[in-house]
Amino acid sequence: MKVTVVGAGAVGATCADNIARKELCQELVLLDIKEGVAEGKAQDMMQTATLLGFDTRITGSTNDYSKTAGSDVVVITSGLPRKPGMTREELIGVNAGIVKNVSENILKYSPNAILIVISNPMDTMTYLALQSTGLPKNRIIGMGGTLDSSRFKYQLSQHLGCSPSDLNAVVVGGHGDTTMIPLIRHATWNSSPVTNFLSAEQQEKIVKDTMVGGATLTALIGTSAWYAPGAAGAALVEAILRDEKKLFTCCVALDGEYGQKDICLGVPVTIGRNGWEKIIDFKLNESEQAAFNKSADAVRNMNEVLKTL
Ligand code: LAC
Repeated sequence: MKVTVVGAGAVGATCADNIARKELCQELVLLDIKEGVAEGKAQDMMQTATLLGFDTRITGSTNDYSKTAGSDVVVITSGLPRKPGMTREELIGVNAGIVKNVSENILKYSPNAILIVISNPMDTMTYLALQSTGLPKNRIIGMGGTLDSSRFKYQLSQHLGCSPSDLNAVVVGGHGDTTMIPLIRHATWNSSPVTNFLSAEQQEKIVKDTMVGGATLTALIGTSAWYAPGAAGAALVEAILRDEKKLFTCCVALDGEYGQKDICLGVPVTIGRNGWEKIIDFKLNESEQAAFNKSADAVRNMNEVLKTL
């Protein structure tokens, strides 16, 4: 198996590091446009191989896509990250050109690859990748909801005083501070609804803190986060390469599911060797569906911006 991670910044490098530690593939290529950065980080990671005990071969490349040839999965992290106070949506002008260029170059050498999109604004970048490559929709996966759901479980665990691993909770909709929808009514603590254990105020706070999870970290760190985004990317690579059929929330092309069409938006999907394989209907109630429709409207407006670039 071969995986490429495009973009050797903090998110890309962390994602690659996780993939290598889990030995998800024999070959791992890190590619970046900045001279020497991918080669340097790849060497640095390879020098952890004997310490961490992994056997994945990691190589770096400065923008030479021929090195990525025959990749089974490609993770796209390229583009600018957020600065404090910035929304993900403000990155569209710069990142759209980069993501389009990267996906086209990748497919020249890896026509059968499954693409995982992490670059922001993630919902629109996923839609752009789908439109510009014309790939079958199951092979384009936006990572956002996987990260947001993990952040949701973290927030829940802080209030419940429990292990995040004992929680099941998903965030659907867009990957924006105002477009994501943490589905607290559906969340469970080892199968018991979390709403049994949390006051209305606590629930409201958890939902709010989840939605601005990325912005909170950007304000603290000075740039956008990387540990959880990188790990979320690697978890999807793992589910694909091991054909796990695990349920994640991912940004995928909707064709009537959840009442939406001609848009990529976060919904629960199973992930396996064919990319995203099945959309699972969580049966939203009226207010959840209204929030989902509102989120779709906002993402659709952002997608419209692509036409003006
Ligand atoms: C975040 C970025 C990766 O939410 O969108 O941290």
